[in-house]
Amino acid sequence: MTDSNASWRARSLRAVWHPCTQMKAHGAAGDAASPGNTPLIAIASAEGPWLTDVEGKRYLDGISSWWTNLFGHGHPAIRAALVDQLSRLDHVMLAGITHQPVVELSERLAALTGLGHAFYASDGASATEIALKMSAHHWRNAGRPAKNRFVALQGGYHGETAGALGVTDIALFREAYAPLVRLSATVPSPDARHAEAGETAADVALRAAAALDAWLAEHHEQTAAVIVEPLVQCATGMAMHDPAYLRAARAACDRHGVHLVVDEIATGFGRTGTMFAHQQAGIRPDFICLSKGLTGGTLPLAAVLTTDAVFDAFYDDDAARGFLHSHSYTGNPLACRAALATLDIFERENVLAVNLERGAMIDGLLAPLHRHDRVRNARRLGMIWAWDIVGAPADFARRYARHALREGVLLRPIGATLYAMPPYVLEEDTASHLARGALAALDATLAEGDAGASLFGDEERALP
Ligand SMILES: Cc1ncc(COP(=O)(O)O)c(C=O)c1O
Repeated sequence: MTDSNASWRARSLRAVWHPCTQMKAHGAAGDAASPGNTPLIAIASAEGPWLTDVEGKRYLDGISSWWTNLFGHGHPAIRAALVDQLSRLDHVMLAGITHQPVVELSERLAALTGLGHAFYASDGASATEIALKMSAHHWRNAGRPAKNRFVALQGGYHGETAGALGVTDIALFREAYAPLVRLSATVPSPDARHAEAGETAADVALRAAAALDAWLAEHHEQTAAVIVEPLVQCATGMAMHDPAYLRAARAACDRHGVHLVVDEIATGFGRTGTMFAHQQAGIRPDFICLSKGLTGGTLPLAAVLTTDAVFDAFYDDDAARGFLHSHSYTGNPLACRAALATLDIFERENVLAVNLERGAMIDGLLAPLHRHDRVRNARRLGMIWAWDIVGAPADFARRYARHALREGVLLRPIGATLYAMPPYVLEEDTASHLARGALAALDATLAEGDAGASLFGDEERALP
C-alpha cells in the first residue's frame, strides 16, 4: 500500500494544498475510481516526455508540466550542469555579491533580446510584479508620478499574486480577491477568433490596436505601461493573434509615451517558433518577462529584462531612486546554470530549425483532431496546438483530463478549449501516442454526454 497511488493520494490530500484546485474536487481520498473525482496521480519519476507514477504507469506530458519543460524531463546536459554547479556554489544572495552563472546568463539574455539589464526572481507572477513596479517607478523617477496605471488585454493572464491579478482578466482567478486588487484598464483582445465576416486576423489585430490607441490617447498621462502576452494569450484558452497587433501596440506606446511590457513567460524560448514571440513582429519592447522555459523546466527562475533608458532612470546617488526590490533566491546560481545549459541546447542542437520539422510532423499526426466534427478554430503556432470543442458537455475540461490520463496522456483543457503544448522532443512514436490519446479522450468525453459531470459543474471549467 505504501507505494500505491491510493496511499500517496490520501497522504497528499491530508498534507498538501494543491495549486489552482478546488481540493474537494479530488474527493476525500482523491479516488480515481469515483466518477465525480479528478484523480490525483502520484508521479515517482520522469524522463523525456514521460511521467511515471508510483505504480509504473506512464503518461505523456502533453502540456510540458504547465508549459515549463522544453527538452523533456531529466535532460542529461541540464542535469550535468546542475550537478557540477551544486559542487561549486549552491546559493548566495545577489545583493553585494555576484557570480559567474548570473553574469553569463544576463549577458546571453541581453544578446538574445537587445535588452541589457536583467533583474531576477523565481516565478512568472513575480516577474510581472517587477515589470509593473519598475515601469511605474521609472516614471516617478522621471518626474511623472501620475503615470502609475496599467492597461492589459481582455482575457489576459499574468499570474496570481495581488499585483499580477490587477492585470489578469480571468474572473475566476480574480473575483474572490477583488477588494485586494488594483485593477488595470482592459482593452479588447486581438484574438483572431473575433474576426467578423470578411475580416482577416490582421484586420482584427488592427481593430484591437485602434482601441488601445484611443484609450492611450485619453489616459496616457496616468498610464505607465501596457502589458501583453505576445501572439498567444495562453491561460484564457490559447487565443492567438496576428503580429500586426504588436507592431501597432508598439507604435501606440511610442506615440503616447507609455512602456510596452511583453510577458513571454509562456511564449518564450521557442514555443511560438521564434526564440521569443515578439520577434515575429520585429519590435523591441521596453520590458520582457521570462520564466517557465528559462530553465528548461527544471528549477524556478524568472527574469525581467529592460532598456538602458529604464535602467538609467534609477541610476542615482539617492538610494530611494534605486529599484529596492528583492527575493531571497534572486539569481540563484543553480537555476542560472540550468538556464545556461538550456540556452546551450538551443545553440548546439539548432532547436528552432529542428522544431520546424518536428512541429510539422506532430501537426500531421494531429490532423484527425483538426478535422473532428466537434472541433472549431483548430489552430497552431509553433509548438502550441488548440481546438475549441462545440457543444462541450458540462464539466468538459475535468472529464477530458480524466479520460486522457486513462489513455496515458497528461492534457488539461481550459474550459471548452483542448490544447497541447508538448516538450520539443516528441518523435513519431511519442507524437502518435499523444495524438491517439488526445483523440480517444475527446471521443470518450463526448460519448458520455453530460452523464459524467461532477458536482462542480462549469464553475471550474476555466482552470488550466
Ligand atoms: C503569460 C503568463 N504570465 C505569467 C504567468 C505566471 O507564472 P507563474 O505561474 O510562474 O507565477 C503565467 C503562468 O501560466 C503565464 O502563462
